[in-house]
Amino acid sequence: MTAIKSLRSNAVKANRQGIVEHLYFSTVPIGPEPLQAELKGSNRSTRIYNSYICKIDNDRYIARIKNTFSSQAPLKGIIGEALNTLVANKLGFKSHNLEMLTFNLLSLQATAYFKKILDKQPLDQVLNDYKDIDITPVITSVLTEFAALSMLGLYHGDMNSSNVFCSFDGNTIKDIEVIDFELAMPSTCDNQLCFVYMCASIYDWRINTLISETEIKTIIKEVLRSTFASIKPESEKAISLFISNRPLSKKLRQLRMSTINPEGKSLISYL
Ligand SMILES: Nc1ncnc2c1ncn2[C@@H]1O[C@H](COP(=O)(O)OP(=O)(O)O)[C@@H](O)[C@H]1O
Ligand SMILES: [Mg+2]
Repeated sequence: MTAIKSLRSNAVKANRQGIVEHLYFSTVPIGPEPLQAELKGSNRSTRIYNSYICKIDNDRYIARIKNTFSSQAPLKGIIGEALNTLVANKLGFKSHNLEMLTFNLLSLQATAYFKKILDKQPLDQVLNDYKDIDITPVITSVLTEFAALSMLGLYHGDMNSSNVFCSFDGNTIKDIEVIDFELAMPSTCDNQLCFVYMCASIYDWRINTLISETEIKTIIKEVLRSTFASIKPESEKAISLFISNRPLSKKLRQLRMSTINPEGKSLISYL
């Protein structure tokens, strides 16, 4: 009960109008906690507490609501993220659970999404902060996890190193979890290709100064060989194209989308 009350009071604070019309669900006991940090975007913010995270979206989302239950249009915003997270959980994607979602039904404003804080660190922080860490085996472990994820039929859509959380046993990765499913979508393409796209997308400005292009390509190929036995020619081609041409041109982004999700379907049909 205290948990619900405290979540409700946080949600009320999250809501500009002070009324939460709809309380979705809550599974964990979360007590009142002081705010530790707040990451602010234009219409978005992420509030970090000791044991949970609250993402708040102040956009009006009337258009999003209309789209929400369509399997044709990709889901957007925090409601979309919440539904995509449920799908990711259902498919067995290694991710956090959605704990609660609130929104103001009348104003269609101020969505708040609650999740438990992870007992892990984001990959970009690990690689940048721990200078003595051996990066190659860490990246190999992360990409091996991506290879497993690519077989689940879900394309993450925003696979960057701040969305991949890891825990360590000494210098070895113990566990990996992925967050932030707002841009997730069904993948109908070949698993190898889906894997290569996720690898290419993680190789962004946050980590491309720490690991060379040649090295990441070598790791991608090693993981492809160990997971899929052989490397398809289309995968080789995609590695060259998507790793060497960063940032990606509009044409390459369109090419990726037309192979991953040609009909622009949402994940709702997986629920
Ligand atoms: N479950 C979590 N545990 C710990 N930190 C988190 C968690 N979720 C989000 N964060 C922190 O908040 C940041 C933003 O969260 P994220 O869900 O990725 O939102 P955004 O859409 O702003 O990228 C993350 O990069 C991370 O630092
Ligand atoms: Mg993120």
